[in-house]
Amino acid sequence: DWTPKAMVEELVDGVREQVGTDRAICALSGGVDSMVAAALVQRAIGDQLTCVFVDHGLLRDGEAEQVREDFVELTGADLVVVDAADRYLTQLAGVTDPERKRKIIGEQFIRIFEQTARDIVADRGDDQHPVKWLVQGTLYPDVVESGGGTGTANIKSHHNVGGLPDDIQFRLVEPLRLLFKDEVRQVGLELGLPEKIVYRQPFPGPGLGIRIVGEVTAERLAILRAADRIAREELTAAGLDREIWQCPVVLLADVRSVGVQGDGRTYGHPIVLRPVSSEDAMTADWTRLPYDVLARISGRITNEVPDVNRVVLDVTSKPPGTIEWE
Ligand code: XMP
Repeated sequence: DWTPKAMVEELVDGVREQVGTDRAICALSGGVDSMVAAALVQRAIGDQLTCVFVDHGLLRDGEAEQVREDFVELTGADLVVVDAADRYLTQLAGVTDPERKRKIIGEQFIRIFEQTARDIVADRGDDQHPVKWLVQGTLYPDVVESGGGTGTANIKSHHNVGGLPDDIQFRLVEPLRLLFKDEVRQVGLELGLPEKIVYRQPFPGPGLGIRIVGEVTAERLAILRAADRIAREELTAAGLDREIWQCPVVLLADVRSVGVQGDGRTYGHPIVLRPVSSEDAMTADWTRLPYDVLARISGRITNEVPDVNRVVLDVTSKPPGTIEWE
């Protein structure tokens, strides 16, 4: 009989066996997968685990605070927060290619984890137990789409799978790698995580870095963050969060179009709304959002966000489009 309880027990046993008495660190991203992976590994190895949250500056409004509050409050797990926003902006300067962005973001992640791992050991004065393991919330669809599953597909190097540097010094613990999202949610509930975490919409590890089509800069991030916050507020207010799988908000940073505001001509950027419905992110359809909700989002974004003078709706399914634009 397959039950969430049996599955949790099996996964916990698996982690214990894999990690033994070593120390591990867990990369928290704010998403469901990494939270469930962290909670699971914590159940398995307790305080041999340290959770690390890297604020890469590519997060949405309020996200860093939320991870801190939610996760630490809930699990009481040891949490280290690393503020790396400047470092990421420097590394990403001038980069426009999506796969290069992922590679840079993934590489910086690992370098930060390596440093953090050394710090943890130094802080504890316990060099007998180095941090050997890195926990990742990789799911089955990530494995498949990064080419690790069947060896056939290589669509995107999701950074928690394919975008890691080759000389990585950690061994990976990926307790969710055979699960689909709905199973991960059941495991999360079984571990006692609340619905507000378990039903959170997916958000990619590279964050807003792959939602700015073009170079990532601090100014562009501020524009996108403001537009994204408005879209999320309105979708939540309309009670649509559970119906939508996720809704990337994308800034076409190198595109400008002419508009008019007050007495003047504007020459601003378009924002793309990409609401999708899906079961597992491997295929998706565009969500038929009510027109009045779209109108409110569009009205607010063009009014409230400087430099954005147009909002467009992506009506492409996956395939042929992917969910993210990069
Ligand atoms: P695509 O764009 O490939 O996205 O249709 C499928 C799902 O994966 C998420 N995604 C990522 N997640 N690192 C991640 O952790 C990534 O590089 C990445 N790229 C896409 C995307 O948000 C969607 O849920």
